[in-house]
Amino acid sequence: MPLVTSREVLKKAQAEGYAVGAFNANNLEYIQAIIEAAEEEKAPVILQASQGAINYAGLDMIVSMVKTKAEAATVPVVLHLDHGTSFEQNVRCLRAGFTSLMFDGSKLPYSENAAITRRIVEMAHAVGVPVEAELGQVPTAGNVTMEEVEALMTDPDEAKKFVEETGVDFLAVAVGSVHKMTSQAAKIDAERTKKIAELTGVPLVLHGASGVTDEGYKAGIKAGICKINIATELNKAFTRGIHDALAKKPDEIDPRKIAGVGREYMKEAIKAKMRLFECSGKA
Ligand code: G3H
Ligand code: ZN
Repeated sequence: MPLVTSREVLKKAQAEGYAVGAFNANNLEYIQAIIEAAEEEKAPVILQASQGAINYAGLDMIVSMVKTKAEAATVPVVLHLDHGTSFEQNVRCLRAGFTSLMFDGSKLPYSENAAITRRIVEMAHAVGVPVEAELGQVPTAGNVTMEEVEALMTDPDEAKKFVEETGVDFLAVAVGSVHKMTSQAAKIDAERTKKIAELTGVPLVLHGASGVTDEGYKAGIKAGICKINIATELNKAFTRGIHDALAKKPDEIDPRKIAGVGREYMKEAIKAKMRLFECSGKA
């Protein structure tokens, strides 16, 4: 079917109490794995491209591949911009055919983040496309301490003000997760999440979710998380598949027999996450 907007899939998720998986794609194999996994699980899915992925694969190439694959699928597929850091990046993606946008002004002062988010919301809503924004900061793994993770968490009252001032459709919240973790060890502040959900009323987004425990997903969903972002777990699965294929047959030179194993590993990882997010069977 044609691409749908994130508003359609996330409002249903919010009403029915599950989360839609949002998986980052970097190339053809990721796009195939994400949409085929959704088809097999009968799940709605958000396929997202970061600015890094857009630089790597090309904006029009991503849109063409995702549209072609989604049109042949029977489940709803959203094409979302992940962590767009400028007004211009959001305009380029909207024009290219994305059906969901994100402005990440989390490193900016509150007033600047709110002002740019507001402009993007006005522009995107003119053609019916919803927008996600981030308040608080989800840090990246490296040398971040627990104290820093806590200090960067989203303030519930500020979140209420931000959503009212900007009219943003979904809010990415900092509630304990950390980007690019390679093991599942991060715990979620469910109380804070619940408070933000109650005060804002919008579907909430969990970033850095590869590093969140399975219990964390459950608690987050119960508290109001409706979109869960996974990138690192897919990168791990893809490269593990490539390593395994080459370890088994070190002389293999057919790239399809190498990348194809990575694609199968990603598919299994995506399907497992969809079941945990309770979006399987919800298409
Ligand atoms: O925006 C993308 C996500 O927040 C992915 O985070 O790489 O830790 O899974 P992750
Ligand atoms: Zn993120």
